[in-house]
Amino acid sequence: MSQERQLFTVAVVGATGVVGRTMTRVLSERHFPVGELRLLASGRSAGTTVSSEGRTITLGEAVPEAFDGVDIAFFSAGADVSKELVPEVTSRGVTVIDNSNAWRMDPAVPLIVSQVNPGDAEWHEGIIANPNCSTMQLAPVLMALRDTVGLERVIVDTYQSVSGTGAEALAELENQIRAHVAGEPKIASVYPHPIAFNALPEIDVFLENGYTLEEWKVVTECRKILHLPELRVSCTAVRVPVFVSHSEAVHVETTRAITPDEARRAFAAVPGVVVVDDPQNHGYPIATQAAGSDEVYVGRVRSDPSVERGLAFWVVSDNLRKGAATNAVEIGEALIERGWVKARSRRPVSTRVGEAS
Ligand SMILES: NC(=O)c1ccc[n+]([C@@H]2O[C@H](COP(=O)([O-])OP(=O)(O)OC[C@H]3O[C@@H](n4cnc5c(N)ncnc54)[C@H](OP(=O)(O)O)[C@@H]3O)[C@@H](O)[C@H]2O)c1
Repeated sequence: MSQERQLFTVAVVGATGVVGRTMTRVLSERHFPVGELRLLASGRSAGTTVSSEGRTITLGEAVPEAFDGVDIAFFSAGADVSKELVPEVTSRGVTVIDNSNAWRMDPAVPLIVSQVNPGDAEWHEGIIANPNCSTMQLAPVLMALRDTVGLERVIVDTYQSVSGTGAEALAELENQIRAHVAGEPKIASVYPHPIAFNALPEIDVFLENGYTLEEWKVVTECRKILHLPELRVSCTAVRVPVFVSHSEAVHVETTRAITPDEARRAFAAVPGVVVVDDPQNHGYPIATQAAGSDEVYVGRVRSDPSVERGLAFWVVSDNLRKGAATNAVEIGEALIERGWVKARSRRPVSTRVGEAS
């Protein structure tokens, strides 16, 4: 006897943004069990229409009443919107998967990479946080080392694409390239300097410790996801003139020694991680090849002789898909599979905003 598939009412908040649009596409590609889809954005977009799966959907405004009857809401409209709206939404019984950094470091909110710690979703109280895109692609690879030889220290330098900043940054890079070719001045408004033909070591705001918030997110989020609260991590985050996909140069010190071959095998054993490591034939992960796919690519694996038990490698992934939308949808799938869509306990969340880093 065939069992009828349960369908869910799903909202995508920030549906006009680069992550929100990717989210809608990924939900459709993966045949997420959507009964009703509500696409929400700011009042500026409300009333306009978008096409999804051949249907025309009218965008709604993301106000609390728009969530009545929603089962799962995917938020990608920035931390301010999440901080304000998510408590209202969860109080309506909606489970929120949030892409912003509003709740990630809240001890009451699970922060999940689908291949690494899906079990943490069991204790959600209405909010599950999706990690920062730079953390996202790093965590599955670090997990492989944690589980085979142990991790002592991680140094990561990122080369992050402009799509990580959103739709306006994509347009800014394109406009600056056109201006350069036309011999006109390159006007910067999203970034403090022209991003075309540049590398900017400033992503998000500077903190008192000299790191940027983006760098500090990698530090704190890796520890939380990997359940290694004492892990030594340092990061330099750099914006580069790439449209899609983040790249990372990673140096780790492991607890026990590991050869590059053993590391490649450990990486390849993680679902969703692909090893591309044939340097003699110019085979290594690159941003343009990763763009559009859901995998995390690892290459340039080598021993780092500058420290004992050192390993160096290069990690690339599409920041809009695995780095944001795909992982969020995978979290939703895990909730459905495990029967965890509805939170078991609920406590007021409005007091926790200040705890987010
Ligand atoms: N880009 C990435 O790689 C990435 C990765 C991980 C996480 N994230 C996070 O995802 C979020 C969105 O990023 P994005 O790159 O998609 O930005 P984006 O392209 O600039 O899109 C922003 C979205 O937020 C909506 N929005 C703005 N103000 C709103 C309001 N008051 N109420 C409701 N909706 C509002 C916008 O709607 P309108 O069109 O109506 O203004 C738009 O849909 C951010 O929190 C970001 O940190 C991004």
